[in-house]
Amino acid sequence: MAYPKLADRKRSAFAEDVRLGLTRTPQKELPSKYLYDDLGSALFDAITVLPEYGVTRAEERVLTTHANELARLVPETTLVAELGSGSGRKTRRILEALSARRRITYCPIEISPAALAHCEQALGDLARVDVAGYQYEYLDGLKRVVEERRRDGERLLVMFLGSTIGNFRRLAAAHFLRDIRHLMRPGDALILGADLLKPEPVLVGAYDDAAGVTAAFNLNLLGRLNRELGANFDLRQFAHEARFDPVAGAIEMHLRSKRDQAVRIEAAGCTINFAEGETIWTEASHKYTLEDVAYMGDVAGFSWTAQWTDAEWPFADTLFAAR
Ligand code: TRP
Repeated sequence: MAYPKLADRKRSAFAEDVRLGLTRTPQKELPSKYLYDDLGSALFDAITVLPEYGVTRAEERVLTTHANELARLVPETTLVAELGSGSGRKTRRILEALSARRRITYCPIEISPAALAHCEQALGDLARVDVAGYQYEYLDGLKRVVEERRRDGERLLVMFLGSTIGNFRRLAAAHFLRDIRHLMRPGDALILGADLLKPEPVLVGAYDDAAGVTAAFNLNLLGRLNRELGANFDLRQFAHEARFDPVAGAIEMHLRSKRDQAVRIEAAGCTINFAEGETIWTEASHKYTLEDVAYMGDVAGFSWTAQWTDAEWPFADTLFAAR
């Protein structure tokens, strides 16, 4: 038998993840990385400009205000890898500040081909920045970047912005940072974005906006299952839900079945029954205190270098050095 093409292997991994997630008890779930197909990435870009979702603008203010200071703190950086670059808007000021000192190579690592192309295009005009995109998941991409790009003695800056770290459970977040740390060398730097705890109504609004963009973003996951795995979800029979879990300190996103229904997922070879009111858990977004962030970095093998916050929307970008 011929070895299956990459696209087929990716599709069967997707189908298997979906089958495992939707047959889980008591809580059905779908991995959040599948939210970001081309439509999902475009909808997420729309989320970042929603009045209720202050996260992205807060980080833009933080990075714009402190880009030069950040560049001064990592003066020898010539290789920059960004995990989940999105459209690359927030990154521009940092690359400008770093490249004012030295020519740099910027490697965005992004699973959405459309978002990656957009980012490469948006940042490709910077005079002293060479852009080399990696369409991979975070750790695979970072591994390749250090293997393929890193010259001896070169200083690396890893950027993990937007509070994507919050999409991991707390322990998994610390492990993930440790995995990143293992791909780095002592003296390399990490800049980590983290959304901070704020009053529950503000948080719920940020993940359930009045115009319904976040609902569309979440529901698109079911649309993607229809398009790519031959599923027959009726999107109108599911509703987006955002709840705050005070114990986890996290917003949880779900898709709630509006009635008893059965859904066929052809490529996964399964039919899934939903009871009325039952949910699929699609994402959690953990919120932090400043101490949480420092601790998380510390247990992962980093020393705290500097931290900047936004006054309008509590958010922190923290610069760490690999020990
Ligand atoms: N990383 C983003 C966050 O947690 C992702 C996100 C924003 C998201 N809104 C969402 C994920 C709604 C699922 C549903 O802030």
